[in-house]
Amino acid sequence: MEHNAPWWKNALIYQIYPRSFQDSDGDGVGDLNGIVQRLDYLADLGVDAIWLCPVYRSPQDDNGYDISDYCDIDPVFGTLADMERLIREAGQRGIRIIMDLVLNHSSDEHPWFIEAKKSRENPYHGFYIWRDGVPDAPPNDMKACFGGSAWTWVPELRQYYFHQFSVKQPDLNWDNSAVRQQIYGAINFWIKKGVGGFRLDVIDQIAKVPDEKITNNGPMLHTYIREMNRATFGGTDLVTVGETWGATPEIARRYSDPAGDEFSMVFQFEHIGLDQKPGGEKWDLAPLRLQDLKQVLSKWQTELYCRGWNSLFWNNHDLPRIVSRWGNDGAYREASAKMLATLLYGLQGTPYIYQGEELGMTNACFPLEDCRDIETLNLYKERLEKGYSEEEIMRSIHAKGRDNARTPMQWTAGPNAGFTTGNPWIRVNPNYRQINAEQQIGEPGSVYSYYKRLIALRKETPVVQNGRYELLCPEDTSIFAYKRDDGANTLYVVCNFYDEHVEGPLLPVQDEDVLISNYPDPPAGSHLRPYEAVWYLCRNDRVTPVLGGR
Ligand code: GLC
Repeated sequence: MEHNAPWWKNALIYQIYPRSFQDSDGDGVGDLNGIVQRLDYLADLGVDAIWLCPVYRSPQDDNGYDISDYCDIDPVFGTLADMERLIREAGQRGIRIIMDLVLNHSSDEHPWFIEAKKSRENPYHGFYIWRDGVPDAPPNDMKACFGGSAWTWVPELRQYYFHQFSVKQPDLNWDNSAVRQQIYGAINFWIKKGVGGFRLDVIDQIAKVPDEKITNNGPMLHTYIREMNRATFGGTDLVTVGETWGATPEIARRYSDPAGDEFSMVFQFEHIGLDQKPGGEKWDLAPLRLQDLKQVLSKWQTELYCRGWNSLFWNNHDLPRIVSRWGNDGAYREASAKMLATLLYGLQGTPYIYQGEELGMTNACFPLEDCRDIETLNLYKERLEKGYSEEEIMRSIHAKGRDNARTPMQWTAGPNAGFTTGNPWIRVNPNYRQINAEQQIGEPGSVYSYYKRLIALRKETPVVQNGRYELLCPEDTSIFAYKRDDGANTLYVVCNFYDEHVEGPLLPVQDEDVLISNYPDPPAGSHLRPYEAVWYLCRNDRVTPVLGGR
C-alpha cells in the first residue's frame, strides 16, 4: 500500500438495502436495529464500511430514493437514536457507515415541494424546475427514467415541473444557491453524527439543463461538486463515491483525481451496459461478449492508474444478481460465483459487495404480482401498450428487473430465511433452504468462506492495491486473464468464464504460487476446469521461472 494512502483504498465496502436485510420488529421490513444485530456477521466477513441505501423519511415511492426529510429517519427503519446507535455499534467493530445522499430530487411530499406548489411567489417555488405551458403540451419530449414524460402539469400553477425519475421525485434546482445551502446543511448534519462517508445518488444529473435536454454532465456540474466538497466533506477522511452513469475514464479522473477536490471515486457503468442492444434500453437484451468485458474493464484499470480511483462492483440494488447474469446459477453456481469474485477482486480499486452476493444469491424471477419495484411495474404497462408480448416483457424483467436483488437476505433455512417473523414486504427467494448464511459460514468450501478469504488476501497483498495492470491473452474468447505488477511481485489472475474445459495461457508460475483458487485442488498445468479461477503470486526476482506451469 502506498504510504499515507487513505483508508478507503484498502477497504471493503458492503452495501445494505435496509428494507431487505434484517427485520427486528416483525413488520416485514428490514430496519436499523436489524442491521445492528448483524454487525458481527459483517465484521467477521472483513467489512470496513457499510453503504446504507436511503433510510431518511420518505413516502417510499422509490423505496427511499424519494426523501421528505433529509435529517430524519423513516419510522419504518427506526429513529434517529437507532441510527446513532448503529453508527456507534458499527464504529466499535471498526465499521464506518456511509449514507446515501439523494440530492438530484426530493419527494413531492417534502415540505419544500409542498410549499413550492402553493404559488409562483412562494420562496420555495424556485427550489424546483418549472416551465409555463398549457395542459397536454409539455415543454419538450424528455422522458422520465421510470417511464412517461419528464414533465408533470400542476393545474393550480399552470406550470409543469421537471422530474427525471417518477412523478413523485421532482428534480431540485441546483442553480438556486438556497437549495445548495440547504443541502450542504443536511450533509453537515450527518458528518456531525459521525458517518464515514457518502454515496451520491445520480450525482452527475444535478446540473441538468432541461431546455437543452441535457441530463448528465451539465456545464455547472463540477463547479457545484467542488463547492459542495468545500462546504462539507472536503478536508475530512470521509469516503465519497458518486453514482455517475455518464462517466468516461476522462470524466472519472476529474472526479477522483488524487490531488483533486471532488470525490474519492465514482461508480461507472460501462461494463454494466454490455449485455444490452446498442442504442436500446437495459431491457433490450443481448448476450455478453467476453472480449467486450475485457476491453472495458482493462480500459478503466489502465486509464485511472495513478490518476484516479476505481470502484469495483458487479451488483447493487438496481442490478440483477451477477451469478445469474454472467455466471451460472445452475450446476456451477458456487464455482461461477467464486470465479466472478476472483476476477473482480484482483483489480485495482475499492470493492463493493452487495448483500447476499457473498452467498452467491440468485435472481428471483418472480411473476409480476410478486414484483414491487416502480420501475418494473411502469415498464410492464408501458411495453404492453407499445405492443410487446407479455412473454417478451417478462423475459426482460427476469433478466434485469431490480427486484431480483431486493429479495430478503437469506440468513437461515428457517421461516422467511430468518429475515422476519412477520410477512416480508417482498417474497423471499424460494431457494433460501439451499442458499443461506447459516449453512455457509462454517463451511470451508462455501461461497461465503471464499469471499472472506479473498477479502483478507486482498488486504494483505500490496500488489493488489498498487500493481500496474496488464491484460493477458486479449483475443481469447473464454478466458479472462491479467497480471498486476508492482516491481517486487506479480499477481496473475486467470479465470475461465464459461462451463467448458479450456487451455489457459502459459504463465511463469508454479504450484506453490497459488494464493487462492476456487476448486479444492490447484489447476493441473494450464488446463482450466469449468469456471476455474486462480490467483498466483510470484516474486519478480525469482531466478528461473518455469514456463508453462509445473
Ligand atoms: C439511483 C438509485 C436508484 C434510484 C434512482 C433515483 O439510480 O440507485 O435506486 O431509483 O437513483 O433516485
